[in-house]
Amino acid sequence: QQHLLGIEPLHPTEITTILDLADSYAEQNRRRVQHKNVLAGLTQINMFFENSTRTQASFELAGKRLGADVMNMGMQASSIKKGETLIDTALTLNAMHPDLLVVRHPHSGAVDLLAQKVNCAVLNAGDGKHEHPTQALLDALTIRRAKGRLHRLSIAICGDIAHSRVARSNIMLLGKMENRVRLIGPPTLMPSGIGEFGVEVFEDMREGLRDVDVVMMLRLQKERMDGGFIPSEREYFHRYGLDAEKLGYAKSDAIVMHPGPMNRGVEIDGNIADDINRSVIQEQVEMGVAVRMAAMDLLAQNLRAKPKEVMV
Ligand code: CP
Repeated sequence: QQHLLGIEPLHPTEITTILDLADSYAEQNRRRVQHKNVLAGLTQINMFFENSTRTQASFELAGKRLGADVMNMGMQASSIKKGETLIDTALTLNAMHPDLLVVRHPHSGAVDLLAQKVNCAVLNAGDGKHEHPTQALLDALTIRRAKGRLHRLSIAICGDIAHSRVARSNIMLLGKMENRVRLIGPPTLMPSGIGEFGVEVFEDMREGLRDVDVVMMLRLQKERMDGGFIPSEREYFHRYGLDAEKLGYAKSDAIVMHPGPMNRGVEIDGNIADDINRSVIQEQVEMGVAVRMAAMDLLAQNLRAKPKEVMV
């Protein structure tokens, strides 16, 4: 692939290639092994038009660990504030000859559009409700390491599915790898036509969690609710918040995941999030650096194999 824009275009073998390389980076990161030659001489620009802690920090760390020259564009202080469009901003940066552009944007499809206009590899760091491919890849690596496989698992994704790019990318990735995906949440937070993705849909948390191997919790993404129905947090926690009683319906060795940022006491009980016997939330963050290193390494191999002129 020339870019990493989503999970949708990836073949299962490509997913496995990224995960295998990321797994190796994860082990080497623990041993503080240096890889400064991998992206040496390449320039990475991070453009985050939406807030981020995990994704921005881990892309920056990943680039620096691989030896890239990393520039973080402060989008709040950029000329976007003076009316410059996304495309004009991208063309301006493109003229400075970056090799890797990491982009987060609040509008679905904005990153794909930008990728058509620039002459470098583009990585989608989350676009609106559309895709968050590196999140799904790091989730997959976390599951594979915890469960020893990434197929024939029963995985519940719970909460605000309708507004979640994490859910969308995970549904596609986990489906491609032949897992059984259950979506659990109130009908108001379930996208229409979701059954076409080969998933099972549950309104009742206990029913949906029964005997699953993995429980993936999502926060209420109020910033994308466009003034629509927002449930009361107290009522929401009562019905859909993951606590010890509801987790008891999953398999006894089921792992608990959350992409972050987490709202304790809304979608998840803080004690469950902190339970090192069940929660792999910190491992997800750790795998985030490794997956982003692998993704940029593989795209850079493509860049080096092709002259820039033929990439447009
Ligand atoms: N999971 C995730 O995308 O977190 P951030 O918004 O902090 O990057």
